[in-house]
Amino acid sequence: MIKDTMSKISITKTENSKLKDVDFNNLSFGSVFSDHMLVCEYKNGAWEAPKITPYQPITLDPSAKIFHYGQSIFEGMKAYKDANEDVFLFRPLDNFKRLNISAKRMAIPELPEAYFMDGLKTLLELDSDWIPTNEGSSLYIRPFIFASGEGFHASPADAYKFIICSAPSGAYFSGKVKVLIEEKYSRSANGGVGFAKAGGNYAGQFYPTQLAIAKGYNQVIWTDDNTHEYIEEAGAMNIFIRINDTLITGPTSDRILDGITRKSIIDIANDEGIAVEVRKITVSEVVEASKNGSLKEMFGAGTAAVISPISGYGHRGQDYDLPDLENTYASILKKRITDIQTNKTEDKFGWRVKI
Ligand SMILES: Cc1ncc(COP(=O)(O)O)c(C=O)c1O
Repeated sequence: MIKDTMSKISITKTENSKLKDVDFNNLSFGSVFSDHMLVCEYKNGAWEAPKITPYQPITLDPSAKIFHYGQSIFEGMKAYKDANEDVFLFRPLDNFKRLNISAKRMAIPELPEAYFMDGLKTLLELDSDWIPTNEGSSLYIRPFIFASGEGFHASPADAYKFIICSAPSGAYFSGKVKVLIEEKYSRSANGGVGFAKAGGNYAGQFYPTQLAIAKGYNQVIWTDDNTHEYIEEAGAMNIFIRINDTLITGPTSDRILDGITRKSIIDIANDEGIAVEVRKITVSEVVEASKNGSLKEMFGAGTAAVISPISGYGHRGQDYDLPDLENTYASILKKRITDIQTNKTEDKFGWRVKI
């Protein structure tokens, strides 16, 4: 099966590599792009064999349904290179499965596994020089699918493009983040598309996040749309809260993205002997824990930001600071997960995939 797909992937290499223009010591997040991309077209009811081409703009008809009805989904993953120049992915099959979960919800045709996995591997082999090795850097990979099919009729498109491109990237956040607990706007609703990595979920967050940034916060923490009592997740991260020595994270639902970092952190924390509770947590429980001193840490967890410690949060006009602790759970868990990802430690979970 794999061999079959590999032989079907046509490759056109760039004659103009941009590699020499990149300052690998000063990488921002997701703003320079590696030399090649993979493109796979869905037409006439089937996904066609993937092609690898030089990274380049794409042309679409103005009536392409992506522009009007937002049929668009994506994934975020990273490739790492160890000291021996071996290349690794972290739980890539989980990204593939989630892409198809998103596809189904957005009425996008599901992608064959081999096109995703073999396409990714072939692309990474070709662009392996683009994988940074500096501490905290990696090659951020963006697989996405959108409706390229044409027409103003508000119905699913008949043509799609699946593209993978990548960007050598440094840290997503440069330091701790201050968050605002949001009680007016909602990111998602019961029965909606919050569990899908659908482009529109992010567009809908930008305005409330801009309002939060104008007030001096970096991110919004979403609460449930119905009561705004329960902590849900952040813009592109799941949330963990440490009260005394217990780490708490909310259960996933159709409103929350089932984060790969989140589930890995739960397993690692269990393995480290840290008490973990996956349960609903109310804003009032967190505020109460702040007041009585039992709130020790809050952090976000996601592929882009890895683990991002939260310095404090705002709620109903009041700011609450988190204590500045040594040997935080965030730092222990971040080291453990990045050491697994970058092949610095044993991977007893079998998450690392060598390319
Ligand atoms: C809304 C949202 N929540 C959580 C996450 C974290 O998911 P993962 O750990 O799979 O990157 C992401 C990022 O993908 C996200 O966009």
